[in-house]
Order: sequence, then C-alpha cells, then structure tokens
Amino acid sequence: MSKFEKKIIIIKPDDWHVHLRDKKILNKVIKYTGQFYKRAVIMPNLKDPITSCFKSIAYRKQILKAMNVNYKFEPLMTCYLTSSTTPKELEFGFFKKIFIAAKLYPHCSTTNSQQGVKAISDINCVLECMEKIGMPLLIHGEEINQNIDIYDRESEFIKNTLEPLRNKFPQLKIVLEHITTKESVEYIKKHDCNYLSGTITPHHLMLNRNDMFSSGIQPYLYCLPILKKNKHQKALRKAIASGDNHFFLGSDTAPHLHKNKIGSFGCAGIFNAPSSFLSYVTIFEEMKALKYLQAFCSENGPKFYNMPINKETITLVKKPYKVLKQINFGKNKIIPFLSGKTLNWSLQK
Ligand code: NCD
Ligand code: ZN
Repeated sequence: MSKFEKKIIIIKPDDWHVHLRDKKILNKVIKYTGQFYKRAVIMPNLKDPITSCFKSIAYRKQILKAMNVNYKFEPLMTCYLTSSTTPKELEFGFFKKIFIAAKLYPHCSTTNSQQGVKAISDINCVLECMEKIGMPLLIHGEEINQNIDIYDRESEFIKNTLEPLRNKFPQLKIVLEHITTKESVEYIKKHDCNYLSGTITPHHLMLNRNDMFSSGIQPYLYCLPILKKNKHQKALRKAIASGDNHFFLGSDTAPHLHKNKIGSFGCAGIFNAPSSFLSYVTIFEEMKALKYLQAFCSENGPKFYNMPINKETITLVKKPYKVLKQINFGKNKIIPFLSGKTLNWSLQK
C-alpha cells in the first residue's frame, strides 16, 4: 500500500459476507456493493433458500442482471445447508464453480434460518465430503437454545459445537462469520489461518451494546449476532489493528424494509453497503493501523479461499463522504447504517 498525505491506494477489496436478497430489493441495493467491491460472497438465506446448484445458477443470473454494467462485479455463490443436502450436490457445485462455499445456519438462529441445521451430526457426510474436497464451511456461530443467554450464544457455540467439529474434521476449512467476542478472536488466533479464519463487520467494530439502547431502543442497530459489551468491541478492534491474517472483511450488509425493522417482531440485520468499506477505513485510521488495511480488505480473504488477489486498485481520498439517507420503495424504505452521517474518507472516482 502506498500512502500519501491524504490519499491511500490499495488493491480493490472484496466483501466476503453479503446479503443481497432478490427481486426489488436486490435491484436497488446491489450497486452499493458493486461500487466498492470486486467480488462478494453472496449469502444463500433467501426466503426460499439457495439449496441447490439449479437455484444458485438462477440467483446468480438475477444478480448479474441487476448489476450496473459499469461495475465488473463477481458474485461468489454459496449453498445453504439443510439436513437434506447431499455430498453429491455440493461436490458437483464446487467443482463446477457454482458454489465457492457452503453456509451453516443453526436452525432458527437468524433471518430465514428455519430450514437450517438442527443437529450438526445430521450433516456429517456433507462435512466429510467438504473436508475431502477443500470446500470452505461458513458458519453462523451461535448456539440456539432458550437456556443460553443471547450474549453468550457465540462463545457457547465455540465450546459445544465448533471445537468438537474441528476435532472431528481437522482439515475442514472454516470461516467463523461476523465474530463479535474476545473469545472468538482468541480462539481463531490459536489455529492455522488456512483452516480457521473469521470475518468482522464494520458495525461490530464501531459499536457496542450500549449503542443499541442509547436514547431509547434502536431497532436499526439490531443484528445477529447481537452487539456485545465494549470489551468485546475493543478485542475486535485490536485484532484487526494488529494485522493478524486470520481476519478479513465481511460486512454482513443485510437490508430489511423499514416496516420490518420497526415492527413488533423487528428483523435482525444492518444494511451497511453504502458505507461499509469507508467505515473500515475510518476504523483502521482511528486505530493507527492503516498499514494493515489492504491485508484485511483485499488479501487475507482471497488467500483463505485460494483465489487470486485482485489486480485493480482503488484510491481513497480524505474528503467528507455523506452516507445515503434512505432508499425508497414506494411507501416503504430501507435506511442504511450511518444514514445521513459524514465519514472522513471518500472513493476517488
Ligand atoms: C442477516 C440477514 O438479515 O439475513 N441478519 C443479521 O442480523 N446479520 C443474517 C445473518 O447473517 O445473521
Ligand atoms: Zn449475514
């Protein structure tokens, strides 16, 4: 990375965790991801989840059609694991490059996870196959059980599910997605980054659970895994500021219509695509760690996935950037993370 006084040039980043939804929402949100990122790992948790090669091909087509032709954007598709997923489907999808990875949602852990996996032993043969072929497993790492406090779901998942899973399949490549705790940082750091890595979102780096309850409840800051205590936020910030190559960019941008965010059963998810990349830049600057920005945004991810690092670069300039206020959908709208706020860095066009 070459850094001048008020300019940064880095390799074009990728976003390794993105929810684009489909149809009308997809059409309106996709350009924000395409503006900043070359590639994005597309989460499969549509209402009708992407559980097969056939569905994935159709969804990818829909994404490319929705994308503005100005952006050379590459969607990297994932398969939603259910108790009926077959090793054959995954192996075929992986070798034909239809899927880059498969996603494990514990049953009823988050948005559209009703078809998720109830017991990890239900997918043993699938995991065995993935380990053999080198297909990454992406995990929503929360233990779902009414007796577990929502703030402890991630650390309980590591203890009760991830550790036994790793012992059983030591060569399985795993990404623990959107990590939120000190325990996760420590756990990941202990292992070989080719087999275990973690993505970190801008909102978990910028906020902690106090923000969710400041001046009243803030439905727009409700996401899963839920924001944690400040000590965990600090641990995440320290992890990226140390330049550790176990961690890479995964924004978890997750648009929901306003009416569904503020309803009596508010949806979890933060739509951060318009500001995610510039938020990361701000955080690295605050941590005096800009020298590690490029590794986190553009290098550690492709290395984990055994993919080439992008050839293009992007230029950032220290110039105020006003985050989009809202996207309108007839009478409804989607309000992005940091709506209307100003960040210090912009993309040079
Ligand atoms: C995501 C969504 O809305 O699809 N929500 C969220 O709070 N992060 C799903 C997920 O990644 O958990
Ligand atoms: Zn997500």
